[in-house]
Parts: sequence; C-alpha cells; structure tokens
Amino acid sequence: MHSITLTQFLTEERRAGFGNTDLIQLMEVVARACKRISVATGKGALGGVLGEAGTDNVQGEAQKKLDVLSNEILLDANAWGGHLAACASEEMEDPQPIPDAYPKGGYLLLFDPLDGSSNIDVNISVGTIFSVLRRPENAGVEPGVGEFLQPGSAQVAAGYVVYGPSTMLVLTLGHGTHVFTLDREVGSFLLTRRNVRIPEQTSEFAVNMSNRRFWEPPMQRYVDDLLAGKDGPRGRDFNMRWVASMVADVHRILTRGGIFSYPLDRRNADKGGKLRLMYEANPMAFIVEQAGGAASTGRGRILDIRPEALHQRVPVFLGSREEIAVAERYHRPTT
Ligand code: AHG
Repeated sequence: MHSITLTQFLTEERRAGFGNTDLIQLMEVVARACKRISVATGKGALGGVLGEAGTDNVQGEAQKKLDVLSNEILLDANAWGGHLAACASEEMEDPQPIPDAYPKGGYLLLFDPLDGSSNIDVNISVGTIFSVLRRPENAGVEPGVGEFLQPGSAQVAAGYVVYGPSTMLVLTLGHGTHVFTLDREVGSFLLTRRNVRIPEQTSEFAVNMSNRRFWEPPMQRYVDDLLAGKDGPRGRDFNMRWVASMVADVHRILTRGGIFSYPLDRRNADKGGKLRLMYEANPMAFIVEQAGGAASTGRGRILDIRPEALHQRVPVFLGSREEIAVAERYHRPTT
C-alpha cells in the first residue's frame, strides 16, 4: 500500500489552508521526538529505563525513569526550533520558556510525555499526548501560566503517539483526525487512516469498575444499566475494556467506537477528577470531536471549559457521540 509520509500530508494540509510552516515544522519536531521515545520505550529492561526514577512530579506521583526521559526528549527537541515560546508538561510545575539562546515562536506546546506510565513495567501500551495553543498577542517575553490558560476550543493542533505493537501517531489540525504508522525501517510516519470517523453508537465501555463505590449516584446508575444488558433499560448487552492507559483506550475507541470515562469520585472530587484538562482531556477531546465523537465532563463540553490552573483536573467522558449523550442524560438534574 502506497502511503504518504507525515511531511507530505502536512504539506497537503497547508496547501488546503490548514496550518502554516511554523506549525507544520513543530509537528515534525514533536513526531521526531516521539520516535526517540518509542525507541527508549521499546528497549524495556534492556535499556535500563524501567522502574521508578526516585522522584515525584508536581502531581505528587512517583515518576518512572521513562517519564523523566520522555519529558527531557520533548524539551530538548523543542528548545531550538524557533516555533515555540514555551512548553508545559505534566512532569513540571511551571511552564518552561524557550532558552534565551534560541529564537522564540508563536506557539505554546503542552504535553503528557508518557501517559499510562504505571503500565510501563508490565509492558502494556503507553503514549505521549500533546496540545498546541497560539501564544497570546499580549504575552510577555517569557509566557507565564496565564498565557496557557486557554479553553480547549483554542487549540490549533492536538495529537498522541501510542507506543504499542506498532507506534502510531494520531493528529488533528482542526481538519479531521488522521492516523500515521511508524515505518521503523524507513523511520517515517506513514498515513494509514485519513479522516477517522468514530461510530455514533457503541456497545463497549471503558471505566475502572473498582471505583464504583466512590462514584456519584448518576454514574453508578449509568454503569449499572450498562451491566444489566439486554434485560435492562438499555435493551442490549455491553462489553467492557480498561487498559488504564488513556492513549490505548482512546485509540481503541477511535478505531471501533466506545465510551471512555474517568468520572468524579469521592477520592478525587476535591481536585476536580483524576485526568488533567490541559494536556490529557483537551487534546483527546479535540481529536475525538474531529473524528465525529463527543467529549464531556458529564455535565458540559470539555473544550468549552475556561481553565483556572495549569494542572487542573476534570471528569472525562469521551467517544461515540450518541453514548456520550446518554451518559449526560443520567447526569442531568432530575426536575
Ligand atoms: P499514569 O500516567 O499515572 O499511569 O495515569 C494514567 C491515567 C490514564 O492514562 C488512565 O486512563 C488512568 O490514569 C488510569 O487510572 P487508574 O489506574 O486509576 O485506572
């Protein structure tokens, strides 16, 4: 099968009026960095990169060696290109400005360098999630947190790379969602699916069922009705999958439909949820909506949220559009 490269695709997109030279080059830099992360991840125990780093991140979570390495790979790759004004990461408390030695550009890059890293040591797929915002006109020389706090609807690009049996890049520039597969012999990402469409209906849900007793009653009712199957109010049986790597679960949903949820629960309600808005929920919501799906907190569209903090957390429901609407109906206040 003749597939075009990421570079050829991005050039086509620019000709169609989506993206510009700086944004396209930024996407190439991020893709190249993720190839390096793929190599490091693929070495596993042979690369001396498994296990804990012995440090905690800003979330208070123990960092894996690969979390730290992936973060460094992305920062190093993006320092000198001249496309960015600053980067923000799950692994860093504050944004990191582009070093003074290098030219600054008009974009802000946010990323979760290695999502699902608790799965690394058991050889389950993990991934990198990234989001691109425009640097606000009035931004200072070194953009602070405030310049990053834009709603997800302001994203100009978003994507993820899933390090699984194959390494795949999923990308949107706001003109559909497209899938590229890494050809390791050549070292290029080749276009393998153009304009992904998520099936509007699904009979497959993804949630960590062990948290049921902590959920809000509407979430308990929603999932109980899924479990009741064809004898229950939904009138059909449902299947469940839970990888515990958002990138892997979302990729399955992009491929065959489904609903993914990490809802509020009593343990995380004070923090707003488990998953982070700026570099997990927002990029995934942009990708999913561009593929015809929907992304909600259960009570509103994720991309409409006006962020208040860089590491803000939100409840997440995303996937097949009709199923998201059903889940939202369970969360609507009963009159
Ligand atoms: P981490 O990067 O700390 O492994 O967290 C991954 C996130 C997300 O990718 C996944 O959907 C969710 O956490 C899994 O949470 P549980 O382990 O609570 O199921």
